[in-house]
Amino acid sequence: MEKIVSLCKRRGIIFQSSEIYGGINGFWDYGPLGAELKRNLRETWWRAMTRDREDVVGLDATIIMHPAIWKASGHVDTFADLMRECTVSNKRVRADHVEPQTGTAFRWTGATGSNGWKSEKPMSLLGKKGEHVDSIRKAARQHYAAGAAPGAAGKIEEIQLLEETTEPVENSVDFHPETGGALREAVPFNLMLRTFVGPTATEDNVAYLRPETAQAIFAQFKNVVDSSRQKVPFGICQIGKAFRNEVTPRNYTFRSREFEQMELEFFILPDEAVKIMHGSVAKWSEGADLSKPQPNWGWEMWHRYWVAQRTAYYAGIGLGADVLAYHWQTQEELAHYARACVDILFKFPFGTEELEGIAARGNFDLSQHQQHSGKTQEVFDEELRAAANKMDDAAKTAFIAEVSDEWAARALLNQKPEAEARAAAKEFCEKLFKGQYVPHVIEPSAGLDRLALAVLAAAYHEEDKTDVNGKVERRTVLRFHPRVAPVKLGVFPLLKNKPDLVAKAREVYESLKRYLNCFYDETGAIGRRYARQDEAGTPFCVTIDFETLGEKGDELKDTVTLRYRDDGRQERVKISELPGKLFPLVQ
Ligand code: GAP
Repeated sequence: MEKIVSLCKRRGIIFQSSEIYGGINGFWDYGPLGAELKRNLRETWWRAMTRDREDVVGLDATIIMHPAIWKASGHVDTFADLMRECTVSNKRVRADHVEPQTGTAFRWTGATGSNGWKSEKPMSLLGKKGEHVDSIRKAARQHYAAGAAPGAAGKIEEIQLLEETTEPVENSVDFHPETGGALREAVPFNLMLRTFVGPTATEDNVAYLRPETAQAIFAQFKNVVDSSRQKVPFGICQIGKAFRNEVTPRNYTFRSREFEQMELEFFILPDEAVKIMHGSVAKWSEGADLSKPQPNWGWEMWHRYWVAQRTAYYAGIGLGADVLAYHWQTQEELAHYARACVDILFKFPFGTEELEGIAARGNFDLSQHQQHSGKTQEVFDEELRAAANKMDDAAKTAFIAEVSDEWAARALLNQKPEAEARAAAKEFCEKLFKGQYVPHVIEPSAGLDRLALAVLAAAYHEEDKTDVNGKVERRTVLRFHPRVAPVKLGVFPLLKNKPDLVAKAREVYESLKRYLNCFYDETGAIGRRYARQDEAGTPFCVTIDFETLGEKGDELKDTVTLRYRDDGRQERVKISELPGKLFPLVQ
């Protein structure tokens, strides 16, 4: 990771936000190459999720929305991490981010100073294995001095620690990982960043910076249905900034406080509607054909389909099976409304961690917004109504009984009242018979910054190169997939002091740069220029030489040397053939 972080700074890929003022924890800026990388990733996602499909449309909603949205979605009440505070420094840490520590717990009942100052506050510090007792006592004295009333600290001399006791501890998660101070009990800490809208900063004007892009999609669902001529099953996708006041931002950009999400809400019919229309719901089994959606698919097939689609997307930008893993959430891990959720994980240098989550969320979100806004989120499906009309009364009664048994069983599992579940099931079925329902949803939700980090980690390679004098040099190569590489083509004149070569190279550069992000470079030996582009991850370079000018005969006139980053291969290509050769590789 350290090598990647240092390369990102050196080559202008990622910078610490506000660095000249010491930085701000959990915020990152993208430099010239990073901005291009992110833009390319955004483009590939947008194209795969909507432009290449007929059943997904896009949305671009505001970051600040009506606060009622976050009440309905559950974020105001439950979007919290359990957090623990250090008794010594008041620094917070996420409860599940404290690694077990072994050592000796030192406890003091208080401290006194030679000038009469006194503290009766008990203090506990962990002395880590091998740490000298003097340094722990010194730290304790410093903490006591820092905790004294303003102005007093400087005047306190020769702090005496009172009544020291020690106790061995093993694999304890009760001490702050940095300060060693004992941690208080865990309390929930809401992750939403608050602000005020309008001229007065009162509780009535509180608004939130969105913690996810998904809720805007639900809130605008009806408008999109009414304006886009889409019919369920169909999806709405969005790319945009999200904000979370993460307690412990860490692992570079992996867990940031400001980041970008790329989310799809794919709306589907409830399984019960599919059953009325098609007699049964397709069941998933290993090897099932997921290549083309079918009318009899229920949530399970759609969920599997999106896992396969997203996996194919990652393969298409160079993240294959060797760097990905999957975590299927267990029943205990799932949210109460979710049917299934799989995390697509990437093997980062700091561990195998989540890149994207794909959840089958039932109709929880639209139902919540329907309830809280009082506006119906139901759609009407004529085909469903026609299919239900073909059922006789006995078939309808049997159908209601079957659905009601299923809902009752699920209610019992979630410790919810059975009678309410049965009544809701009946109401739901009767609506279905009229062709009405609140759509269910499959949600593939990915982080753009995490994806950029994954792509960087997968691309990072070091190679030993021997120069003409036999000197071995270690070089860094970013093996980005050409589709996402920030710069696609380096354009070089062989020599910068030959005006004809420079003019021809500029001509090639000008003709291609509108279609490909090109970089023109005339300084240094050709080998150095290749090395610089390898380090930036540029997949192709062309060199304009005397052959290009026709000085070695007509056959090679208007040809260039095309050099491939990954195998160093070089070939002679006509300038006019460059677009045809390169465009398919980068699109
Ligand atoms: N709408 C569902 C949702 O927001 P999530 O698992 O909380 O689900 C989805 O977030 C994705 O957003 C994650 O898989 C991750 O890629 C990205 N993400 C979440 N929190 C992040 C953070 N603090 N920093 C960077 N990316 C984050």
